[in-house]
Amino acid sequence: MEKRQALNFLPVLAVASFLVKISGSSSFRPVLTGPDLAFSGPRVVFRCVASNVSPPVIYELIKDGRVRIGRNRDFQGGQVASFPIKVTAASEGSYHCRATAGGTREISNSIKLRVVTPPSYTRVTSEPFPPVAYEGSRMALSCDAEMGSNLSYSWFFNRKEITSSTSLPFHFVENKLLVERVTPEYAGNYSCSAWSSVNGIKRISSSTEVQVTIKVYVSKPEISFSVHKEGTSYHGNVTCWSTRGSPPVNLYLLLDGKEVNSVTAAQTLAAWFLVVVVPELDMGEARCRVKTENQDLTSEPVNLEVAPVGGNVKVEVEYLYTADSKLTTARLSCHVSRGTFPYISWLFNDSVLPSESHPDSHTQPILPHIAFADRRQSLILTKLSPEESGYYRCRARDSYDDSGPWVESAAELVQVTGLKEDARDRVRWWQTPTGSS
Ligand SMILES: *[C@@H]1O[C@H](CO)[C@@H](O)[C@H](O)[C@H]1NC(C)=O
Ligand SMILES: *[C@@H]1O[C@H](CO)[C@@H](O)[C@H](O)[C@H]1NC(C)=O
Ligand SMILES: *[C@@H]1O[C@H](CO)[C@@H](O)[C@H](O)[C@H]1NC(C)=O
Ligand SMILES: *[C@@H]1O[C@H](CO)[C@@H](O)[C@H](O)[C@H]1NC(C)=O
Repeated sequence: MEKRQALNFLPVLAVASFLVKISGSSSFRPVLTGPDLAFSGPRVVFRCVASNVSPPVIYELIKDGRVRIGRNRDFQGGQVASFPIKVTAASEGSYHCRATAGGTREISNSIKLRVVTPPSYTRVTSEPFPPVAYEGSRMALSCDAEMGSNLSYSWFFNRKEITSSTSLPFHFVENKLLVERVTPEYAGNYSCSAWSSVNGIKRISSSTEVQVTIKVYVSKPEISFSVHKEGTSYHGNVTCWSTRGSPPVNLYLLLDGKEVNSVTAAQTLAAWFLVVVVPELDMGEARCRVKTENQDLTSEPVNLEVAPVGGNVKVEVEYLYTADSKLTTARLSCHVSRGTFPYISWLFNDSVLPSESHPDSHTQPILPHIAFADRRQSLILTKLSPEESGYYRCRARDSYDDSGPWVESAAELVQVTGLKEDARDRVRWWQTPTGSS
């Protein structure tokens, strides 16, 4: 070992002194090439070469002016010295190369290497957590990579990238996706990608999807009450429902302010409760209450009162005219003085009119131009011709008792004598009370 080094040393000295003699001042400037930006993980190579120098040449790669990373010798001359290094976060720094030949040492240019750590283990975290937000509240999703430097982020909503042209407004702040006031449209699956790039090469780490649920506040519950008769007993049915809101909700039946029954509605916003009713007896005042984790709403009251149909039934006729005094339609109203659940039907010249406004085409209606309104409380003659002239009556019975007795009104005569004549009648009538012509 000792001997060989000594043997090598002599020619080195000889060449060096020869070079010095030829050029006067020795100037072989080594040139270092290598990356200034690299991903951590793979190897990169720094290369150093000095031209116009007689071998042997010793090349050394120096980091931050003090640490020697590698050493290479060129015995032939003109050979490029390679320094492969495995990039880690600690590889970041300033590199230069040192060449020694013929007793002279020269320093290369320096290269500042920046290291980019590719992202990994990316996931979405939400605020609130779990990702269930009420409409109108704020939502913040974060894209968190366990590792990675100099990261950029992309967001996806239902697998589509969120861009400025996405119809829903989003804000991007660093690694966060923000929505100031969520609406039900923001419900869906979110994911993100964290990425960094080096010289056009992208390294991406994508998260799994997070399903965001947007809850809608429940609206004030509504209440309705109906009655059915089975054999000789009566059942009351109190139905409660909210028109909007997100299930599940708890629905309660309150009777005179006391909770008497409850149901958890998991899929819907409605529930019904059976109550005992006795006709003619006041069974109290019912209300519905709907409760969620943050809401408690009560409906208007409804009296659980079942009064059978009775008393007087009468028909009132009202004629409707156009602006130029043409008789167009007539509205017949049926007034039942007593009864909470009346079922009304109409008769014309003692024939029962079909109870639907638009009977199917197979059965010819007795009167072609009629319509019902307000659950048959009103009968509208939509076109008036002599055909519609005749006696109109209405009758009522309890809707919950198919076999119950009818209470009938007196017949009301509607007479249509042709449109021209009617218009003239109308004008005459109009002029008389004003007293001018
Ligand atoms: C980080 O990324 C930004 C923008 O993508 C770029 O301008 C910058 O040079 C990068 N820095 C590093 C160390 O990669
Ligand atoms: C979101 O993901 C869940 C399960 O991963 C799926 O059931 C649901 O249909 C998705 N929703 C949308 C809007 O894609
Ligand atoms: C009570 O009424 C609701 C609708 O208002 C109906 O869906 C339900 O079937 C009724 N229940 C009974 C027992 O009649
Ligand atoms: C209804 O009765 C009135 C009066 O009796 C009569 O003038 C009219 O022709 C009858 N209409 C029909 C369609 O039977």
